[in-house]
Amino acid sequence: MAHLLSTSCSLNIPPSCKKPKCLLVNQCSSSGFPASFSLPTSTSRSKMLILHGKGPKRSSTIYAKAVSLSQESKAQPGSSFPQETGEAGSPKKVMVIGGDGYCGWATALHLSNRNYEVAIVDNLVRRLFDHQLGLDSLTPISSIHNRIRCWKSLTGKDIQLHIGDICDFEFLAETFKSFEPDAVVHFGEQRSAPYSMIDRSRAVFTQQNNVIGTLNVLFAIKEYRDECHLVKLGTMGEYGTPNIDIEEGYITITHNGRTDTLPYPKQASSFYHLSKVHDSHNIAFTCKAWGIRATDLNQGVVYGLRTDETAMHDELCNRFDYDGVFGTALNRFCVQAAVGHPLTVYGKGGQTRGYLDIRDTVQCVELAIANPAQRGEFRVFNQFTEQFSVNELAALVTKAGEKLGIEVKTVSVPNPRVEAEEHYYNAKHTKLIELGLKPHLLSDALLDSLLNFAIKYKDRVDPKQIMPSVSWRKIGVKPKTVAV
Ligand SMILES: NC(=O)c1ccc[n+]([C@@H]2O[C@H](COP(=O)([O-])OP(=O)(O)OC[C@H]3O[C@@H](n4cnc5c(N)ncnc54)[C@H](O)[C@@H]3O)[C@@H](O)[C@H]2O)c1
Repeated sequence: MAHLLSTSCSLNIPPSCKKPKCLLVNQCSSSGFPASFSLPTSTSRSKMLILHGKGPKRSSTIYAKAVSLSQESKAQPGSSFPQETGEAGSPKKVMVIGGDGYCGWATALHLSNRNYEVAIVDNLVRRLFDHQLGLDSLTPISSIHNRIRCWKSLTGKDIQLHIGDICDFEFLAETFKSFEPDAVVHFGEQRSAPYSMIDRSRAVFTQQNNVIGTLNVLFAIKEYRDECHLVKLGTMGEYGTPNIDIEEGYITITHNGRTDTLPYPKQASSFYHLSKVHDSHNIAFTCKAWGIRATDLNQGVVYGLRTDETAMHDELCNRFDYDGVFGTALNRFCVQAAVGHPLTVYGKGGQTRGYLDIRDTVQCVELAIANPAQRGEFRVFNQFTEQFSVNELAALVTKAGEKLGIEVKTVSVPNPRVEAEEHYYNAKHTKLIELGLKPHLLSDALLDSLLNFAIKYKDRVDPKQIMPSVSWRKIGVKPKTVAV
């Protein structure tokens, strides 16, 4: 498979669609990519996914709006939060960057269901990674255009779609000027630690994509929407595994008789995690310097497939990654159990992390938006609900397997990462609970349903993707193709 980091993509645009925000719902293939695209082997990163029309030279970005925008807002039965309104009493506008991804898609639907006016911004690069590496979601997923069309037909609610790269500031500025968000939820990053450790070019891509994308969002807020609240997805992995309790963002230290409250030390353990640390520093600085209001959600590892909204129709189904590059621990273990593969515990299995259900991700983001940070405030929430070691997860999956009549074995495999395999871990996570988070805990029932999903789709599992394929120590400069 060719190694690709730069993609330019041509799309035929009918004459009536040459203005921003035109209707483009039928112009993408079911894979989620535009009907035709070429894949040069250049490693230049600057325009990752460039959509451009034929004919006279025009802006490199297409603004795709799947359905006409309705200002109507109906009260949502059962909503646990007050109706969100913007300045003039209209629905609060939320831009969801990365809204075609795992967390972003579930969040976009949840917010739309709660009567927020939602615009998704995404360059669909996550789907491209799968094509590059020969990976696929366990669950079949529809194109973003079909997803949005299906949502509209089920609920009558509109979601705007802007396809483009947030590293392209011109594109991002146009989306800000046309949508005028009250809040931006920023999920739009390369989010896999193993992906960032495949080779030099993926490490460079990850840091450029994530750091520059976030920097552009900060500049766009400053320039076009300075009251807008940035809700940025960070990760608990930024803190590493210190031998003391992990606080929520800040720690008060007394040193040589003087006391100060300082950002909690960061000890990231991959080029991906390091990109998040740098994002956090850039956001903190711009809160101070420009008065940006921001919430950094240091999220734990997310598991689960269904939210109330994605369960409404097969076309709304979320992605479910189980491979060694993008799959997260619990999702991977459930798939391994379903296909009769021993659970792959890395090393001693004492690695302990915070975890949360995807239904809590969408709740947390809504809580952050509904209770915005003040002007100039850099607020940090640790977004997870429970902590488990890898061995504890393996034991839970084994137990759930027994209940379903599946024999589950566990094997220790050489750890491809550089990390402590046994360590102290106690991370605070009270701020979102104080705001009203009602956690979905990892009960047996949930595990059963996760396992049941894995069993339902087990014919789609590619056994070659189960073992880890990326080694932290073996990363080199040569471009590497992971899939066999
Ligand atoms: N999934 C987890 O367990 C987890 C845990 C902690 C933190 N997070 C954070 O949450 C966020 C979302 O994670 P996810 O699992 O949904 O990831 P994902 O890869 O499924 O989704 C990210 C989306 O962002 C888009 N994107 C990436 N770069 C972009 C760019 N330059 N311009 C426009 N769109 C771009 C991708 O196409 C994709 O649709 C990430 O920032 C990640 O670091 C996720």
